[in-house]
Amino acid sequence: MDAIRITGGVPLSGEIVIGGAKNAALPLMAATLLTDKPLTLINMPELVDITTMSNLLRQHGARIDQSALAPDARLGEAGTTGRSMTLTTARITSVTAPYDLVRRMRASVLVLGPLLARMGEAKVSLPGGCAIGTRPVDLHLKALESLGAKIQLKEGYIHATAPGGLKGANVVFPKVTVGGTENLLMAAALAAGDTVLENAAREPEIGNLADCLNAMGAKITGIGSGTLRISGVQTLHGARVAVIPDRIETGTYAIAGAITRGRITLKGTRFDLLEAVFSAMRQAGVSIEPVPGGVVVAAENGLTGVDVMTEPYPGFPTDLQAQWMALMATADGASMITETIFENRFMHVPELTRFGADVNVHGASAIIRGRKNLSGAPVMATDLRASSSLILAGLAAEGETLVNRIYHLDRGYERLEEKLGACGARIERIVGA
Ligand code: UD1
Repeated sequence: MDAIRITGGVPLSGEIVIGGAKNAALPLMAATLLTDKPLTLINMPELVDITTMSNLLRQHGARIDQSALAPDARLGEAGTTGRSMTLTTARITSVTAPYDLVRRMRASVLVLGPLLARMGEAKVSLPGGCAIGTRPVDLHLKALESLGAKIQLKEGYIHATAPGGLKGANVVFPKVTVGGTENLLMAAALAAGDTVLENAAREPEIGNLADCLNAMGAKITGIGSGTLRISGVQTLHGARVAVIPDRIETGTYAIAGAITRGRITLKGTRFDLLEAVFSAMRQAGVSIEPVPGGVVVAAENGLTGVDVMTEPYPGFPTDLQAQWMALMATADGASMITETIFENRFMHVPELTRFGADVNVHGASAIIRGRKNLSGAPVMATDLRASSSLILAGLAAEGETLVNRIYHLDRGYERLEEKLGACGARIERIVGA
């Protein structure tokens, strides 16, 4: 398994180009299952999770053509340089999403809504993914039942059928769920009649999916709000859509600039995607300047601790909680992080303490007492975002850090060593460590 070696203590300086959002690209790819016409996605990131989704979609019958970097280079929303991908599912060849593919990535469950809507049947293995809590899919299933689906759980599979087709309904999510909202948007787009999704997730990735579905001929209103209204249509057609910039990658590199007390220009991203995080960074004493097509982040010594609580968008994202903790471990004074989305998302704490970080967990909250210097250490990555917090701590720490078991990192960050290396970080991948 690969590891990453870092010799820390270098203030980063330079430019990092942010890729397309993984969490937007995955549901957008699943939308191919709703139409027999080509769907072209531009500004696609190159990540292991994208390959996993491609493999899953291929075995449902999708044909996937990827372009090299060039032709779409300037077409991304913010002038980004991602690849493009055209997905065409002329015919669904299988309604089964098998265990072996689904266990690699929880977002595989996003094929459930579209398969059920187009074929009246789907058999999807119960998902795996990061070990950050129990992460059930009960809310997806209950909501699909409201649209008339019959659901059985058998031998580790969700077996959903809708022989007469799905029918529009009023759905009130008891808890905000990103994946649940996405599954229902896709299912309701092809259901008969009107659907209202209340307490829907408002993440920008949901807006990207809803805009894409509308470009494919769906009728969705209320985009960006907690109430989405969908008038079902009989068929959807192809479209060409840009994946929004990755706000978690943006936040991670913004923290990399801050934690090393450096100065980084983040290009191809948008300030408005991360207002809660940037506002907390400013409170901590980091300078954040929106510039055309990006954001400039700069920090000097003397950052102060700031409390944050993770919340659904537009609140502070749970996917940046671990990275924030690394930053707070280097700030003056104490700060508190409260995690309200996932119950088991402090697995990075014992690893961060190996750098000398002073962190105490009490239930869903962690108290961090910042210290002047962290020191490099061998550590073990546990989940995707935890891995990046260890990289950040390693960049700030004095001496050598070895982050082991980094396969989760490749699921969500493209060419991380290259991007950080170009800003002066002393970082290298050790293959097969
Ligand atoms: C998505 C993101 C993930 C992010 C999370 C929260 C993708 C591919 N992944 O995950 O990176 O951390 O949003 O912002 O976009 N829940 C239930 N029952 C359900 C569904 C969810 O109890 O049926 C719970 C979950 O366990 C969790 C909370 O609801 O506690 C939010 O989960 P959800 O928003 O669904 O997260 P994902 O879509 O899995």
